[in-house]
Amino acid sequence: EAAEKAGFEHFMIKEIHEQPKAVRDTLNSVLKDDRIDLSEVGLTDEEIKKISQIYIVACGSAYHVGMAAQYVIEDLTRIPVRVELASEFRYRNPILDPEGLVVIVSQSGETADSLAALREAKQRGIRTLGIVNVVGSSIAREADNVFYTLAGPEISVATTKAYSTQLIASYALAVQFGKVREQITEEKYQELIAELKTLPDKIAKIIEDDKERIQWFAAKQANARDAFFIGRGIDYAISMEGSLKMKEVSYVHTEAYAAGELKHGTISLIEDGTLVIGILTQNHLYEKTVSNMVECKSRGAYLMGLTTYGHYNIEDTADFTVYIPKTDSHFATSLAVIPLQLLGYYVSVAKGLDVDKPRNLAKSVTVE
Ligand code: G6P
Repeated sequence: EAAEKAGFEHFMIKEIHEQPKAVRDTLNSVLKDDRIDLSEVGLTDEEIKKISQIYIVACGSAYHVGMAAQYVIEDLTRIPVRVELASEFRYRNPILDPEGLVVIVSQSGETADSLAALREAKQRGIRTLGIVNVVGSSIAREADNVFYTLAGPEISVATTKAYSTQLIASYALAVQFGKVREQITEEKYQELIAELKTLPDKIAKIIEDDKERIQWFAAKQANARDAFFIGRGIDYAISMEGSLKMKEVSYVHTEAYAAGELKHGTISLIEDGTLVIGILTQNHLYEKTVSNMVECKSRGAYLMGLTTYGHYNIEDTADFTVYIPKTDSHFATSLAVIPLQLLGYYVSVAKGLDVDKPRNLAKSVTVE
């Protein structure tokens, strides 16, 4: 096992470091001459033009990929997207448009609820696409089309690199669908692809630049009882994954909240020293989320801000700040999630917990 960890203390941190390669490989698998080519996935332009509605169905972190993808796909393609937990979808008698596309996102390809949701969709005669990491897994075999993520084997129960590759796969679909359906110009198309290609290096830089500072901050937060992750839009989707990462490996009670919803209940939980992590990657929502952070601070919260370089006035509000490189706002999840993975990881390490095998959790949930 020591050899497999290649000098890292845990699989989780090893897999965090493998993300630039995993993301690059996954992107390259659908790039030909700097254009996205979905022929291996098996979707033709004619089929893409006909899609009336997209349903993304998944569990756990894969569901959070769906939450982020929803904003990106809707914005770039104008196709309506619904995101559902597989365990809800399968028992809900869903109304599915026959011209729709059901996208099942799953690292293992074996999650019982996701597989059941896929079968439910197929039985209703709707086209299905799996975004799957494990080759030959049940979901990969049964879905009409498969977009394989190239994360390689993931050992840590808490997913990092598989999540990042699922995001890239969904961006590639969004950009290509947007182009085929003439919702984005040729110029915008090339710009977005050029930006996608920069993500692996930016991820590598975040890991290098922020690892030590986050480790230091995490050690200070090791005794935190609660943490609240807040954001709006795509930043809300990132909050969900940040919150899950932290709670699953560090056993700190965490919640993700749409920042604008805080006032409707959660803010009553903020006390002196409660950790609140504000995520602010979306320029048009920046001031709104800052004002929610100020509201938390005035009730005693201890604030971490996660934003892009340039937004230095966040330091007027936040007690600790992490900056990420600029990217197209649609793709911000790929960068912002990295410091949050590191935060969850290092809080767990600081508490001396079994990072790779958190209590009560399994890598692949093959029972209901
Ligand atoms: C488990 C894992 C999670 C994962 C979820 C869905 O709960 O611990 O990391 O997100 O299952 O798994 P899947 O293999 O379908 O992506």
